[in-house]
Amino acid sequence: MALTGLFLIVFLVVHLIGNLQLLKSDGGRAFNLYAEFMTTNPLIMLISYVLYISILVHVVWSAILTARNRAARGKVGYQVVKNSSHWTSRNMGILGTFIFIFIVIHMRDFWAVMHWGGINHVTYDGQEVKDLYSVVAQAFTRSWYVALYVVSMLLLAFHLWHGFASAFQTLGLHHVKYNGTIKFVGRAFAIIVPAMFALIPILMFTWR
Ligand code: HEM
Repeated sequence: MALTGLFLIVFLVVHLIGNLQLLKSDGGRAFNLYAEFMTTNPLIMLISYVLYISILVHVVWSAILTARNRAARGKVGYQVVKNSSHWTSRNMGILGTFIFIFIVIHMRDFWAVMHWGGINHVTYDGQEVKDLYSVVAQAFTRSWYVALYVVSMLLLAFHLWHGFASAFQTLGLHHVKYNGTIKFVGRAFAIIVPAMFALIPILMFTWR
């Protein structure tokens, strides 16, 4: 869980930097060229397969662990846990389930369209590429769709609030000297990254 989680955290940073190109006022040129590179470069394609497997392992393994924990505990629930832990840590499964549903919808609407959809092409300096920018811009003209992204990013923030530091702890990378820093960085990450993701659909909706 921790290894795949950390890999997904790295993916989020790369994905965010790429997606910020959507906000350039160049008619989608930078984003379309970036998307073309990301979907045709052999090394990136290989990393993408590792990413799909990581998402599935992360989801399936969490379901197995939850089932095992429930079985081990039997009918006796935790007595003191409510006061001693943050509610995000007790709801990682439900938060993760909603995030997984978001990823499925998200990949159906953008990733699947990029790979197999009937998508327009544009030419930049003689290079013909798919116009994924227009697909994304069109999607974010619908207010309910923007709201879906904003709510999903809020859930992602809660999931990361606990998940970031927890991944380090699970891997044994915790020490009194560094715990405070890891917790601080994790919480800053949990706020800043989802907030910047959420800003993209909001700005694209309001600027159009
Ligand atoms: C405003 C927010 C976001 C935008 C505009 C966005 C946009 C896109 C686009 C256009 C694609 C298709 C291009 C491609 O395949 O590389 C894509 C793929 C993908 N997105 Fe997002 N994304 C956002 C947030 C997220 C978040 C928060 C997650 C995860 C929680 C995520 C997970 C993925 C995954 C797993 C893929 C497939 C990547 C691959 O094939 O390598 N996205 N996204």
